[in-house]
Amino acid sequence: MRLIRVRDYDALCETVVAKILDRVQSGSRVNLGLATGSTPRGIYSRLVEDARVNGTSYRRVHTFNLDEYVGLSPKAPESYHHYMEEALFRHVDFPRGGTHLPDGTTANLEEECRKYEAAIQAAGGIDLQLLGIGVNGHIGFNEPGTSFSSRTHVVTLAESTRRANRRFFDHPHNVPKRAITMGVATIMDSREIFLMASGSDKAEIVARLLNEEVSESLPASVLKRHPQATMIAEETALAGLS
Ligand code: F6R
Repeated sequence: MRLIRVRDYDALCETVVAKILDRVQSGSRVNLGLATGSTPRGIYSRLVEDARVNGTSYRRVHTFNLDEYVGLSPKAPESYHHYMEEALFRHVDFPRGGTHLPDGTTANLEEECRKYEAAIQAAGGIDLQLLGIGVNGHIGFNEPGTSFSSRTHVVTLAESTRRANRRFFDHPHNVPKRAITMGVATIMDSREIFLMASGSDKAEIVARLLNEEVSESLPASVLKRHPQATMIAEETALAGLS
C-alpha cells in the first residue's frame, strides 16, 4: 500500500478529486465505488462544483456505494441513499439507473446481498474504490474479525461504530444495529483503491495499520495485499506514528 501524506483536509480532497476527475474526464466507462461519512464530504462538494463550473459529465460513470443501514428508508435523512442523493447524485448527470446502494429495507436481506454482489460483477467490477477508515479499522462496515473472503453481507455494527455514527442521528437509540456492506473480498476485487484518513481521531488506528501485520482483527490491513491501494492521510491522522 502506497502512502501519500498531505498537509490538511483540503489537500486530501484535492488529491482524491484529481484522481477521480482523471477517470471521469477520460470519457471511458468507469465504475466508481463510493463511501459516505464525514471524510468524503469535501470530495463530493468539489466534484459538484467542478461539474457546475467546468461542465464535467458523468454520463459514462456508474457508482456502487459500500454500504447502507438495515431498516432505514432511502428517504430517511440519516440513510446513505439520502446522503448520496444530497451530496452528489442530484447535482450531476449520472445515467438513469447508474447509481447503486444496497436496499436495507427489503424483506429478504440475504437475497439483496446476492443481488448487489451480482450487479457489481455484471457491471464489470469496480475501477476505483474510495474508502474511509473506522476508528476500529473497519472498511465499509466490515468490522474487526470479518473474514477476508467475505462478499456483500449483513453485519451487526460494533458498539464503537454505533458510537462514532451517533452524531448523524437525533438520538443514540436511533442508530441502526445492522447494515449491508460490500465484503472485504468485494472491496479487494476493485482495480484501484484509495483509503482516506482524516483527523486526529484516526491517528491511533492509522499508526496500528502501518505498524501491525495484516490481520482480520484490523480489516483495513488487508489493503497492504492489494497491488493498487493508496492511503492518503492528513498530518493529523499520521500523528500517532513515532
Ligand atoms: C461509509 C463507510 C465507513 C466510513 C468510516 C469512516 O460508507 O463505509 O467505513 O468510511 O466509518 O467514517 P468517517 O469518514 O465519518 O470518519
